[in-house]
Amino acid sequence: MKHEWSSKSTFILAAVGSAVGLGNIWKFPYITGEYGGGVFILAYLVCIALIGLPIMLAEIALGRRGKQSPVNTMTQLSLEAGGHPAWRILGWSGMLAGCLILSYYSVIAGEVLAYSFRASSGIFNHQTADGIKSILNSLVSEPEKLLAWHTIFMSITVLAVAKGVRGGIEKTVSFLMPALFIILVFLVFYAMNSGGFQQALDFMFTPDADKFFYARSELGQYLMDANGEKIFTWKPMMVALGHAFFTLSLGMGAIMMYGSYLNRHVSIGQMTLIIVSLDTVVALLAGLAIFPLVFVNDLNPAIGPGLIFETLPLAFGSMAGGTFIGTLFFTLLFFAALSSAISLIEPTIAWLIESKGMRRIKASVWTGVVIWFIGLATIFSMTGTTLGDIFESLFGDMELKAGIFNYTLFQIIDFLTASIMLPIGGLLISIFAGWVMEQDSTEREFSFHNRYIYPVWHVMVRYVSPLLVAMVFLNITGLF
Ligand code: PHE
Repeated sequence: MKHEWSSKSTFILAAVGSAVGLGNIWKFPYITGEYGGGVFILAYLVCIALIGLPIMLAEIALGRRGKQSPVNTMTQLSLEAGGHPAWRILGWSGMLAGCLILSYYSVIAGEVLAYSFRASSGIFNHQTADGIKSILNSLVSEPEKLLAWHTIFMSITVLAVAKGVRGGIEKTVSFLMPALFIILVFLVFYAMNSGGFQQALDFMFTPDADKFFYARSELGQYLMDANGEKIFTWKPMMVALGHAFFTLSLGMGAIMMYGSYLNRHVSIGQMTLIIVSLDTVVALLAGLAIFPLVFVNDLNPAIGPGLIFETLPLAFGSMAGGTFIGTLFFTLLFFAALSSAISLIEPTIAWLIESKGMRRIKASVWTGVVIWFIGLATIFSMTGTTLGDIFESLFGDMELKAGIFNYTLFQIIDFLTASIMLPIGGLLISIFAGWVMEQDSTEREFSFHNRYIYPVWHVMVRYVSPLLVAMVFLNITGLF
């Protein structure tokens, strides 16, 4: 069952469908808010350009050459290059990361779906910020509601992948992405006149290194150590790096998988540039639509994952035609999440079909059930239950308040996947493409018409990208 995308533009659509999703519109604004704005965005953009771009090219090239699921592609390519078959571990860790990410992605996408129904009921009309907040609370504080929406989203995802990747995505994404783009531009225009635009611009584009490098409380005050000094933290840098991978769907094989359906003859440089630019523009537009609402309503930019649900409904509630526009927005965002979800699960499905001889339907259902189950961890995190709380309820009072025990399972899964697994996956991909594969074979995959791009890329994946990722990691371990 080896199929190919029907044209170059369908590959672009599918890859954009994978890249553009909750990462751009839900996650980017709230982590930007948490980590202080300007410097965070700068760090993220630098990671996109110096690490994301070359690694996306590498993933597409690897996938197209291997023509299978990431596990089998890696096995085959390392044999071909005389490397060790252990490189296939990259495929395994990618499958694991994809399933873990989808487990919480689905819960949030479920919230988005719930919001499109709420928007259509007109419930946001003329609400105050407090009213909007209590509408959000009535969802996230009731696990059974979240569970229902999570179940609906996972069922739709399973249905979509069970039908096979190509048909669905091509059609959905080709009308969806332009529509989402237009509505975002509209929301930015709305935000321009809201009175908070200048403040939002300052927040997003004026670098304030302290807000990035020193730990702050949820309310934005700097934390102090025993000597009254601010506490240095490298976490925001890890989050910025991780988000560059997350938002571009890199480091876990999703883009490699889509590359495997790509025809031999198209040149991949220009396509990569299109995918990366669109993804980045969508994230920045989302920020420009949301932060003005934050400031004009005196909200805290660092409130976390609830940020879009507490801001955008305020705008929908007070604009003419807001019921319609709000419904449309959340519906489009739901489809954008769906096209990303499909790419998160597809490497696992493809591997089950190829290597375990499963039928697509069976593979989709089983994988979906496992992910659905892991998603329960995120649902219970929404009420603020931390790992420490869980241990205490299981084993009695243990005074677990330090470090990792302060975080919810959602926060732990998110950090583990986005900030650790994806960057390490990307690091290995760039080492593999730059050092293990023969130059001949990578060069042939590029089929560039421009003779400068290949050499530049080669230097990037050999030295620049891996060194930068390694530097971020060595720094967290205190070695650097
Ligand atoms: N890129 C997607 C988003 O920004 C999420 C994703 C991550 C999809 C990794 C596939 C692989 O929403």
